[in-house]
Amino acid sequence: MSQVSLKKIIIIDFGSQFTQLIARRVRELGVYSEIISHKKKIILQKEDIIGFILSGGPLNVYQTKKVSFDKKILDLGIPILGICFGHQIISKELGGRVKESKHREFGLAQIKEIKSSALTKNFFSKRNNNVWMSHSDQVTKLPRSFETIASSTNSKFCIIQNKSKHFYGIQFHPEVTHTKNGIRIIKNFLFSICKAKKNWSPKKQKDKIIEEIKLQVGNSKVICALSGGVDSSVVAKIIHKAIGKNLICIFVNTGLLRKNEAKQVIQTFKKRLKMKLIYINAKNIFIKKLKLINDPEKKRKVIGNLFIKIFEKYSKKVSKVKFLAQGTLYPDLIESRSVTGSQTSKIKSHHNVGGLPKKMKLKLVEPVKYLFKDEVRRLGKELKLNDEILNRHPFPGPGLAIRIPGAIDENKVSILKEADDIFIKSLHEYKIYHKIWQAYAALLPVKTVGVMGDNRTYEYICLLRAITSEDGMTADYFNFKKEFMQNVSNKIVNSIKGINRVVYDVTSKPPSTIELE
Ligand code: XMP
Repeated sequence: MSQVSLKKIIIIDFGSQFTQLIARRVRELGVYSEIISHKKKIILQKEDIIGFILSGGPLNVYQTKKVSFDKKILDLGIPILGICFGHQIISKELGGRVKESKHREFGLAQIKEIKSSALTKNFFSKRNNNVWMSHSDQVTKLPRSFETIASSTNSKFCIIQNKSKHFYGIQFHPEVTHTKNGIRIIKNFLFSICKAKKNWSPKKQKDKIIEEIKLQVGNSKVICALSGGVDSSVVAKIIHKAIGKNLICIFVNTGLLRKNEAKQVIQTFKKRLKMKLIYINAKNIFIKKLKLINDPEKKRKVIGNLFIKIFEKYSKKVSKVKFLAQGTLYPDLIESRSVTGSQTSKIKSHHNVGGLPKKMKLKLVEPVKYLFKDEVRRLGKELKLNDEILNRHPFPGPGLAIRIPGAIDENKVSILKEADDIFIKSLHEYKIYHKIWQAYAALLPVKTVGVMGDNRTYEYICLLRAITSEDGMTADYFNFKKEFMQNVSNKIVNSIKGINRVVYDVTSKPPSTIELE
């Protein structure tokens, strides 16, 4: 459980794809929330839990072994809101009945108010009340001492309550944007029913995290691997604020970074922020090791391992270090999310500076482990990190190496750096950089024939990729105007020796992935 002793909402996860979204909605409303697996025992500390939300989930409430939860929560006198599966399981637990519906409901449904309730104050509109359903089971008998607040044609007990116990159940998902005004229900639950006070803002997070770092680290030294990305930058900045010179950052330049990125990192952290920074130029070693490696997974492993080796070597040179900073985020921390036990197949082995070795025997400092990515960005803003770092498109740990399929060499990497720079600068020029979730140029190691002036050329293909996405899990390609495409293509082909053709990747994810390897 967290070290942050704040009044909080606990979200009990039964494996819904929307559990994280519930936690985010609560936090967006300014109230701290944590997700725990339904398998965990609830530990009350200083009466810090002010409400429970039971998530949806893929199972059936009668699969009792798989869906057990800590029943103690029903006797604590703390408000509970059950959503979808959460609604069904509290109904069943408190004497109601749940059955497979005759009509499964996926998508929008209309509900009708039957009785007013604190939960639904200002939720219903006079015209239509569209809510988003995703269920095959439903409550068919009300639990003891409950009453109906709203019904749909298919679900009689769509919203129910036990007013005196502050228990509420809803069949649909108020956390998704398709449910019109759904946030109102969450707001009512937090502020009217749980009597929550706003305790979650970037400023409060900053103060709390700084206090915790000081407490954990004391006068010891911390090392931190910088990558130039948002997470490691925010981690370094906040630790520096807490312990100043006792933070030593290590920046390994793999030579696989974007054009001018290494310079920017040194400029920002060493020159502007005056942090202690050990800079290691390891370009040649990386290129040498990757020269003959074609296989994508092998490439990723070689890069990851080499990075760790170099980082370890230099970190040992810093005397009396006790802690290693990591940019672990909340989604990384949330335990095994699937209650069905299904395993997803491994598509790519990820490498990032957050994955440094346990065998280094250093204690971990993980200042942002209770934050979501957008919260880390906001914290970065609060810490006055510049926008260029905070709002940059994501960049993979293995860098440009996975944007050149097959074996790489110095020439290919330097051609790619230039092409990528032209593409990204053009996105800024046309003011579309921030409409795109991620964009990059890749170099395809295939040569084709072209003509420049009166001469035949035989050069590589540059592939451009630009996608829109929520979280990188799924993606769609961005629709550029023809003029933009022509402009970028001309600039790349005319100014970079080594490329004579530009293509645009129009696949979504799935079936493709965002990166090429
Ligand atoms: P894929 O290619 O899997 O990428 O669709 C999804 C997102 O993850 C990024 N990515 C990585 N990030 N280390 C990282 O830190 C990695 O090894 C890695 N591989 C992919 C990718 O850029 C995209 O944003």
